[in-house]
Amino acid sequence: MPSRPLSRAATTARDQILEELREDHKRVKKAYKEFQKFDADADPEACSAVVQRVLQELTVHAALEEELLYPAARDALTDDSLVNEAEVEHESMHTLINQLKDLSPEDEKYVARFTVLCEYVTHHVKEEESEMFPELEKVRLDWVALATQINDKRAELTAASEEEDASGQRLSAQATQTENESETGSVAADGQSDDSTDADAPPAPAPRGSRAKRPPATGSRAGRNSTANPA
Ligand SMILES: [Fe+2]
Ligand SMILES: [Fe+2]
Repeated sequence: MPSRPLSRAATTARDQILEELREDHKRVKKAYKEFQKFDADADPEACSAVVQRVLQELTVHAALEEELLYPAARDALTDDSLVNEAEVEHESMHTLINQLKDLSPEDEKYVARFTVLCEYVTHHVKEEESEMFPELEKVRLDWVALATQINDKRAELTAASEEEDASGQRLSAQATQTENESETGSVAADGQSDDSTDADAPPAPAPRGSRAKRPPATGSRAGRNSTANPA
């Protein structure tokens, strides 16, 4: 127990930190419920969108805890076993996240891996909220400084994630355009539609590639919430 009550600023900072982390947990659990309603075979793009959003949110959330919260907790708590356990659980979580990043939504184990990840995270956050956070609410540490560090880090990671997302979408659009151009070129070559075309010949049908083609969904961020306040 703290030897004396925390200042109002420290209490506010502590409550803000823990509340935002709880909100991160809630968003992941909500996304998992959303995912369970989808039929992965019928709608792989919707499934993939949820998965990508969760992976992104978990990655940011885990970084905030690993780089800032857990080290502060290790210093402040007399027993660091809760921190050790949490860090080991994060290691397993990262293994599942990395496996999912390399997996296509069509992979037969895609749904299984995401399900295991979410079940695992559900267990982990339950422990954080029922054991670690209550212990942290009893200790003295520089909550105001920690809140500033976490806010800054969250903003930095979110911006990087959004930039990565935008870059992925640009690459996807470029790939689609190249594919269309290539398709158009091959049809033109096949149909001899060059300057030697007989003026009396009937107009050739529009090449397939000239139809407006929707870029394939990247599946990465469709339906994603604004990441102004991500996990
Ligand atoms: Fe955690
Ligand atoms: Fe957490």
